[in-house]
Amino acid sequence: MRRPIVAGNWKANLTAGEAAALVRQLKASCETAAAEVVVCPPFTALAAVAPLLKGSRIALGAQDVFWEPAGAFTGEVTPPMLRDAGCQYVIVGHSERRTHFGETDQIVRRKLQAALAHGLTPIVCIGETLAQREAGQTFDILTRQLDGALGDCPPETCRRLILAYEPVWAIGTGKNATPEQAQEAHQAIRRWVADRCGSSAGGGIRIQYGGSVTPANAASLLQQPDVDGALVGGASLKADAFSAIVKAAKTGAAAPHE
Ligand code: PGA
Repeated sequence: MRRPIVAGNWKANLTAGEAAALVRQLKASCETAAAEVVVCPPFTALAAVAPLLKGSRIALGAQDVFWEPAGAFTGEVTPPMLRDAGCQYVIVGHSERRTHFGETDQIVRRKLQAALAHGLTPIVCIGETLAQREAGQTFDILTRQLDGALGDCPPETCRRLILAYEPVWAIGTGKNATPEQAQEAHQAIRRWVADRCGSSAGGGIRIQYGGSVTPANAASLLQQPDVDGALVGGASLKADAFSAIVKAAKTGAAAPHE
């Protein structure tokens, strides 16, 4: 059984004080969550949020990471810094990083390897644009991104990360993938992992869906057999909306897949 994992990506929102206030609200409502819950505040709020999460059901994640452990890289934040700040997770390869900051699959690979080397669990994002979907290239794109980011990783690596299928056309647009579209893509991603890393890695890896997840559509997406949680942007900034999505992710909603 794969335990669902719901992560909130707060993006470039919330000051440290605002982030702390949101976490205080979330702590109570996520106390009995069946799913694993993660929040990913901006770097500047990590120090304010970390102590509030101690002893709670919510884990801390970051939104990005650099691949070197230290050095003359102005403006970057490294894996040991994230560990020191209390992070267990880090988002890697989000489409906004790829689109606005030129991140390639090669960069995504370096980041995820660095994260793993320092004991962080990467949440690796992949997904097609609308033009690519309309051109019938969705599965080619997903395969290319998986090959590029994970292709030469040893099979054990696939057991230690989380994948997030995030169709670019669904991110922040209010237009989510249908449950059927999500399931189809997740199944293809799981098959890629099973082919490369063996059926037990394929059956065990958790694949989140991301892109306009709301309390209204969460249950139908999360009920799909290969959807193991959600990566939530906009709706994760409101405690009641995020809590409702967390509640929709019940342990056992995702059937075992071999
Ligand atoms: P959204 O963002 O929920 O606001 O669409 C999702 C994401 O970017 O992870």
